[in-house]
Amino acid sequence: MSGHEFTSFFPTSGGVDMDDQSTNIDEKTVEELAQLAARYPQPRSALLPMLHLVQSVDGRVSPRGIEVCADLLGISTAQVSGVATFYTMYRRRPGGTHHIGVCTTALCAVMGGDILLEHCEHKLGIHEGETTADGSISLERIECNAACDFAPIMTVNWEFMDNMTPAKADELIDELIAGQEVRSTRGATITSWREAERVIAGFPDGRADEGPTAGDASLLGLRIAQDHGWHAPDPAAIAAPAEEESK
Ligand code: FES
Repeated sequence: MSGHEFTSFFPTSGGVDMDDQSTNIDEKTVEELAQLAARYPQPRSALLPMLHLVQSVDGRVSPRGIEVCADLLGISTAQVSGVATFYTMYRRRPGGTHHIGVCTTALCAVMGGDILLEHCEHKLGIHEGETTADGSISLERIECNAACDFAPIMTVNWEFMDNMTPAKADELIDELIAGQEVRSTRGATITSWREAERVIAGFPDGRADEGPTAGDASLLGLRIAQDHGWHAPDPAAIAAPAEEESK
């Protein structure tokens, strides 16, 4: 042995925590998981939403959640674990009431995403990937959320916070910790990470239509095109020359 030890760059990203066998999964949860499986021609296709429902109930992908999903879908627990540990939206360990994401991919980075993340770390007294001691907030560096026209963006329980600044981040964090009502800059009321997980699983909470469906920055190109009378080319007119050539 050389004496060198392998140290993972992602020390908490290992497997599901099998030491923590606690669970809130009851008959109602099992019934709802079965409902999800029944929505797909191939029940196995329901595994991703089923795992989100497990997270909404147990705050993470729990050992019991893995067992129930495997039983309902007729697959092995190893197959369920393989999926749960592949995607970053599945938690192996419990997190905070709220999940704050800070985008640091190219466009948000150019607009200050890294500064914003560092600022949130200082404000919360934790590093990315950690949860505050009072269990209120987990912080994560996230990849592009397809909201680059509002860069730099943050998310709270996957709802957008557009055009963020360190001052706006301070205000947001203070309000979340104080338990005040917070709204996404696009209108939706912020609930909690667990409630958001239930919606992602496929059980709507009736808030989908809160706020506008598209912001000004996303609609700017459309408005300019309308002002100039620009239209997309007619697909039939584009296809015609190519067809002529092939004759
Ligand atoms: S780079 Fe941040 S949303 Fe696209």
